Amino acid sequence: MIIAIDGPSGAGKSTVAKLLSKVLDFEYIDTGAMYRALAYKAYINNIEIDENKIDKMLEMTTIDYYDNKIYLDNQNVESLIRSEIISKGSSKISALKNVRIKMVALQRNIAKNKNVILDGRDIGTKVFPDADFKFFITASVETRAKRRYEQLKLSGTDVDFNDVLLSIKKRDESDSTRKISPLEMADDAILIDTSNMEINEVVKTIANLIGGKNVL
Ligand code: DC
Repeated sequence: MIIAIDGPSGAGKSTVAKLLSKVLDFEYIDTGAMYRALAYKAYINNIEIDENKIDKMLEMTTIDYYDNKIYLDNQNVESLIRSEIISKGSSKISALKNVRIKMVALQRNIAKNKNVILDGRDIGTKVFPDADFKFFITASVETRAKRRYEQLKLSGTDVDFNDVLLSIKKRDESDSTRKISPLEMADDAILIDTSNMEINEVVKTIANLIGGKNVL
């Protein structure tokens, strides 16, 4: 069974998807981590995010995802890809055609013959248009920026709230207006606005919606 969770940055998708995967005993695939790992490689090697240069980089790059961790060229980079600079780079790199072709193929391959929850931007629209369940999780831009700000502060990063807000707005803009697979809600997805909801409430709501269809 495939459960697709899409939505904009900072809406709480990955927290919800991770918790839900534990409740349901499903595998969890964080597709954003794949784009982040590529952006990280470009960043540390000073490779400009331009189609030709990234196409060349892709030929010499392996991305893997298992046990809830992302591997770049066989190295676990899970703790290196969450900074603001990599967030910006991942949004940019994810707009490139060959990057998307390679990552979507990888996502389909990893999810084959498994019960999985994937979170991203195009899971319900492009990667798995026939997913058993599709959810679109969102929240107001201020709420999302506040959550990201608190997350960054907790991890010891010194940030300014307005910078985080601006960065989220920019990512919303580039993720939703890019030509290939922009962020959009699938027609048959269920919309959940988490602005005034606790994470546990969101998980419960989704688990009930899934259970309610008697498929588990
Ligand atoms: O979910 P995230 O913030 O970790 O994603 C990082 C970037 O990757 C985001 O700006 C958009 C892109 N992305 C994408 O284009 N498609 C996906 N399925 C997941 C993420």
